[in-house]
Amino acid sequence: MKKIIAFGASSSKTSINKTLAVHVASKVADTSITVIDLKDYHLPLYSVDVEAEIGIPEEARKFDEIIKSADGLIISLAEHNGTYTAVFKNLLDWLTRIDMNVWKGKPMLLMATSPGQRGGASVLAAAKSYFPFMQGNIIADFALPSFYDNYSSAGISNKKLASELNDKVELFEQSLEK
Ligand SMILES: Cc1cc2nc3c(=O)[nH]c(=O)nc-3n(C[C@H](O)[C@H](O)[C@H](O)COP(=O)(O)O)c2cc1C
Repeated sequence: MKKIIAFGASSSKTSINKTLAVHVASKVADTSITVIDLKDYHLPLYSVDVEAEIGIPEEARKFDEIIKSADGLIISLAEHNGTYTAVFKNLLDWLTRIDMNVWKGKPMLLMATSPGQRGGASVLAAAKSYFPFMQGNIIADFALPSFYDNYSSAGISNKKLASELNDKVELFEQSLEK
């Protein structure tokens, strides 16, 4: 059975991006899902001086091993001031010090959501343009606007968005079979 890693790129206890990532992961057929919470990874704020002093933290190595172990990745990015949350950017910085090929070519379903009408479109665009330099293999991407209007415990309530997402989940499933 294929192994999927899912996480929201946020450290919020009530992360809507984690909610979305977990929901979408549950729709992928015949896979085992491991949900990661970024707040469980305690990493110092990256600087070249801290790295020279302490080396690469064990927690960053653990995260890198988890990515290695995955057959596919489902990530939903929280947007802070148009870009990555500090916790995710910090994690990325540490991960690139282990291996610049952070995403290791694993098929990725890349998403973002926010309470606003753009649904994290800016952070999604940033990741879409840069992840390929880190061996990001983005199979499909999706931004869910106005999370609190378009999502309920039953899933995505907006039919058009739900159908768009289903098509993308299918593409992602197919990529896992290759
Ligand atoms: C510091 C800060 C900056 C934010 N900047 C943006 C932004 O640029 N665009 C946006 O759509 N929402 C922004 N928001 C609102 C977040 O999208 C919202 O808090 C969302 O719940 C974050 O995702 P999460 O729940 O997965 O952490 C910001 C929130 C905070 C606290």
